[in-house]
Amino acid sequence: MALGTQPTTMGSPLTLGAPPSLLPQPCVLVIFGAAGDLSWRKLLPAIYNLNVDGVLPSNFAVVGFGLGSEGDPDEWMRARAREGIGRFSRQPLEESNWADFARALFYVCGSFNDARAYDQLKARLEAVDLQFGIPGSRVYYLSIPPQFVQSCVEHLKTAGLVNDPKDMRSFTRIIVEKPIGRDLESARQVNAAVGHAFAENQIYRIDHYLGKETVQNLMVLRFANSIFEPLWNQKYIDHVQITVAEEEGLTQRDRKTGEPTASRIGYYEGVGALRDMVQNHMLQLLCLTAMEPPYSLDADVIRDAKIGVLRCLRPLSSEEMEKAVVRAQYIAGEMDGQEVPSYRHEVREYFAMRKEPIPADSITESFVALRLYVDNWRWAGVPFYLRTGKRLPKRASEVAIHFRDVPQILFNTHPDVPLEPNVLSLRVQPEEGMSMRIASKLPGPKVRIYPVKMEFNYSAGFGGSSPEAYERLILDVMAGDPTLFMRRDAVEVAWAFVMPILEYWEHSRARFLPEYRAGTWGPLEADRLIEADGRSWRTL
Ligand code: BG6
Repeated sequence: MALGTQPTTMGSPLTLGAPPSLLPQPCVLVIFGAAGDLSWRKLLPAIYNLNVDGVLPSNFAVVGFGLGSEGDPDEWMRARAREGIGRFSRQPLEESNWADFARALFYVCGSFNDARAYDQLKARLEAVDLQFGIPGSRVYYLSIPPQFVQSCVEHLKTAGLVNDPKDMRSFTRIIVEKPIGRDLESARQVNAAVGHAFAENQIYRIDHYLGKETVQNLMVLRFANSIFEPLWNQKYIDHVQITVAEEEGLTQRDRKTGEPTASRIGYYEGVGALRDMVQNHMLQLLCLTAMEPPYSLDADVIRDAKIGVLRCLRPLSSEEMEKAVVRAQYIAGEMDGQEVPSYRHEVREYFAMRKEPIPADSITESFVALRLYVDNWRWAGVPFYLRTGKRLPKRASEVAIHFRDVPQILFNTHPDVPLEPNVLSLRVQPEEGMSMRIASKLPGPKVRIYPVKMEFNYSAGFGGSSPEAYERLILDVMAGDPTLFMRRDAVEVAWAFVMPILEYWEHSRARFLPEYRAGTWGPLEADRLIEADGRSWRTL
């Protein structure tokens, strides 16, 4: 059954949040940390795709900034971009598009702490402005380790690279990547440092989950249809499950030799799943699922509605902590028929390769499951179960709304075989779409009831591949639309919510965490967390 697999041809599509006047404006995009992984895998491929789709402003260039380039910096940047695009781009690299794209790529070598490098950057930007007819507008993308943020924004300010926000001729905007701090205190410091150099309306704190098609569709589904919103509350919803499952571990390996080819341990060790995924991406999914209807599509109205959810999250007391939060770490296991090592092995391997002291056995969590409550009128008593982990059997992320059981009369009278309740599942990835589980009569003379699925699949319905989250978000910054970005208060309120959990863990001084074999759906403790409430995790 299809839930409307044809996009409507009536009327023109609306842009979420952005009035039609907000078009990407001419500017130079400066990527700080352009030599890094994010730039290589995500940012440069995203910009390439925007160029192929013809949606970039006509006067546009990219300047990378960072350490180390071999030979001519611009050529190095182009070669690196080409390789990343070849490997990770949504649309294939084509020579005809490449030449046009490559001529607008530049690189400035410098240290984030070196004032002179910012003067060189400034001179280079002015030259690029002249060459491409850009009026001095800049978007700075901070894809750099958090310890450099303060120094980077201060140098930008001192070098005269930050415009007055009221300047009508050109603009300066800054995109700040996560992690924004590693706790509430450090997040406040990062926010204060950036806020010192830039006005709040120049700051775009990115959470790439908000740029994903299906995540944006959450609001459309809720507020552009009449059938869901009346049911979207504690009267009809039993509970909500939000899952972000990842197949990868922290170290990538050559499939044949098993040798490590890249590792994120340097970032992840000591950070863990709660900080990496829950504080940001998953709480944002929760906000979009649970928020009250905003009264307009204005960026701040939507962001107010979202923060309303964070403010209603019931704080976890230490007594509830053990029952409501589970953390765990993967041990060696098998994935796709191949042996994969434990997280602790990856940590040892990483530090040994760098000839750095190997830390004591890690207790960084690669998996976390939680039960949360949003204490407001709409959601009173409805549990939200969140789980996320690395080295789970497959990549699968979804928000699943579990509706209440039908009364135990008519078709639902058998206590041992209750009817399966309706579930609306919004698949974020990989197969973007949604499905609805409903009870149906099996054909035949007897009344036998079977759950069937109404399916909507994005690629089947709309054709082609959806733009990557970063494509949409970079374009929004060029257009000056902050709707899908995190406001300062939201970042801090989200940290305030996770702090008691981090502090509880800190004080518990655990030496071992619950474990799960790589390639399984997490530890037994996570099953017990939900089963204690008479429910179970969805099989994905
Ligand atoms: C990042 C996290 O923010 O999101 C990573 O740091 C995680 O650990 C990634 O793998 C997941 O993003 P996506 O888009 O692949 O689901």
